[in-house]
Amino acid sequence: MRIVIANDHGAVALKQEIVTALRAAGHEVTNLGVDTEESVDYPDIARRAAAAYLAGGYDFGILCCGSGIGISIAANKVRGIRCAQVFDLYTAQMCKRHNNANFIAFGGRVTYPVPVPAMIAAYMEAEYEGGRHQRRVDKLDELC
Ligand code: RB5
Repeated sequence: MRIVIANDHGAVALKQEIVTALRAAGHEVTNLGVDTEESVDYPDIARRAAAAYLAGGYDFGILCCGSGIGISIAANKVRGIRCAQVFDLYTAQMCKRHNNANFIAFGGRVTYPVPVPAMIAAYMEAEYEGGRHQRRVDKLDELC
């Protein structure tokens, strides 16, 4: 798959872990995040990744900040982006199956019950169910 990833200074190590795992699995990853701990503003990072995704060519995007909260809030303000903050294998699957999330977000300062690459794999393996969920996703997309 083709994946765009971006992060602020709160998630440099996590982003690098994710990129390494995805590339090792044969995926094409574009890194639009920062690689130092110099402070940046996560709305700028989210905007950059969202614009790249909406321009086309990516299957989905990954966003990381310290908590995963700020960057997901920012991404969800961009029309066409449905960013899910994922916490475990269940939320990783459900955000694709029911919400058709096109971005998933993680926190570099969060302790998760399973490795982040495993949650990303669960998201990638899940399939959007459509049907009654499409009406709700359409309504989501009308909110901004
Ligand atoms: C940066 O210190 C931090 O606020 C940011 O990475 C994120 O956690 C915000 O939600």
